[in-house]
Amino acid sequence: MPQLSATLDRFEPSAISQIFNLAVKLKEEGRAIADFSTGEPDFDTPDHIKRAAQEAIDRGDTKYTAVDGTTAMKEAVAAKFKRDNKLDYHVDQIFVHSGAKPLLADIFRTMLNPGDEVIVPAPCWPSHPGAILAAGGSPVFVSAGVASGYRISADQLEAAITPRTRCFVLCSPSNPTGAAYGAEDLEAFAEVLLKHPDIWIVTDDLYEHIVFDEFPFATIASVAPPLCGRTITVNGVSKAYAMTGWRIGFAGIPKPFMTGLMKLCSQATGNPSSIGQAAAIAALEGPQDFLHARAHAYEHRRDAALKVLNQVEGLTCSMPEGSFYLFPDCSKLYGRKTQNGSVLANSADFCRYILEDWNVATVPGSAFQADDCFRISIAVADEEVNRGCDLIRQACAALT
Ligand SMILES: Cc1ncc(COP(=O)(O)O)c(C=O)c1O
Repeated sequence: MPQLSATLDRFEPSAISQIFNLAVKLKEEGRAIADFSTGEPDFDTPDHIKRAAQEAIDRGDTKYTAVDGTTAMKEAVAAKFKRDNKLDYHVDQIFVHSGAKPLLADIFRTMLNPGDEVIVPAPCWPSHPGAILAAGGSPVFVSAGVASGYRISADQLEAAITPRTRCFVLCSPSNPTGAAYGAEDLEAFAEVLLKHPDIWIVTDDLYEHIVFDEFPFATIASVAPPLCGRTITVNGVSKAYAMTGWRIGFAGIPKPFMTGLMKLCSQATGNPSSIGQAAAIAALEGPQDFLHARAHAYEHRRDAALKVLNQVEGLTCSMPEGSFYLFPDCSKLYGRKTQNGSVLANSADFCRYILEDWNVATVPGSAFQADDCFRISIAVADEEVNRGCDLIRQACAALT
């Protein structure tokens, strides 16, 4: 048989997609699954954004665009960075791609050589290490547990740096923990990074607008301007504007990096959808007040879910500052028996048990480098949050 690339052996398929597919199959079999598996807003894309896409189609904006996006889209992104983050990216420093996920993959492909190390705070979103491995690099995980609010310290960052370190990846608020770094935390990271001028910084700010209790979102390039020349600020419209299917992500990028990324994408990916870009312009330039209302709705769900979960014997859940995930520690339940006599040994066993026996789809912490935990997405209707959390409570109580 003809061969496939050996690179495929370096990483696993997405565990989140696997759980999602299993949940879909069980739903098709008629089971009422409380689906906490995917990180996708249950809200609809706002009407003014949909209208902008329809108008783009009617205008005939249905052709290829420049590889890095239309000028109008890049201007909208530059204005967004200025308005929301006080960042002065020139239009020539903006790259628009078909979602933040492929953008991150191409950023790592542009940056890394075999053996290069990328420091990734863990628990982490699986596609960060996945994309690093696919690009030939090696993720170096720096772990933070529930005790430190799932935040790594500047000392931990410093201790992880080696002569092979090429990049530091930051995701705040985090998928999967919801932990967010404040300006002071970022200043402490900057102090370390300023001593190492050969390290790129990639910050994944997809959950910027989903923060709770008035948490002041901060991003490292604006907190530490001397780092701006080597920081790639990644963001997108998927989560904040409920536009996961439109596939538009973007980044503010230092000039020298831009040349490399353009070269790669000109051969590999072409341009993001012209219609998606028209919709994203409407998202970035249109009303922003609904973002706060939606964040408030997620905050309400977070509080409802935490109230139930933190009373369950065997579960401990920290209070996320943002995103729409909870990441409870379920390790105290390992060793306990299910009703059919199987013993729970890890997060995969726990998630399989609550899905197959109790109809709740969640993602094992092992997918995020944290086998003590499991991830719940609260991007579902309030009633579903309440129903699913109550089922988890019953499932835990039924263990012996
Ligand atoms: C931290 C983080 N970054 C990026 C993405 C992907 O964003 P996009 O839909 O723009 O590809 C996700 C989606 O789950 C995410 O959680």
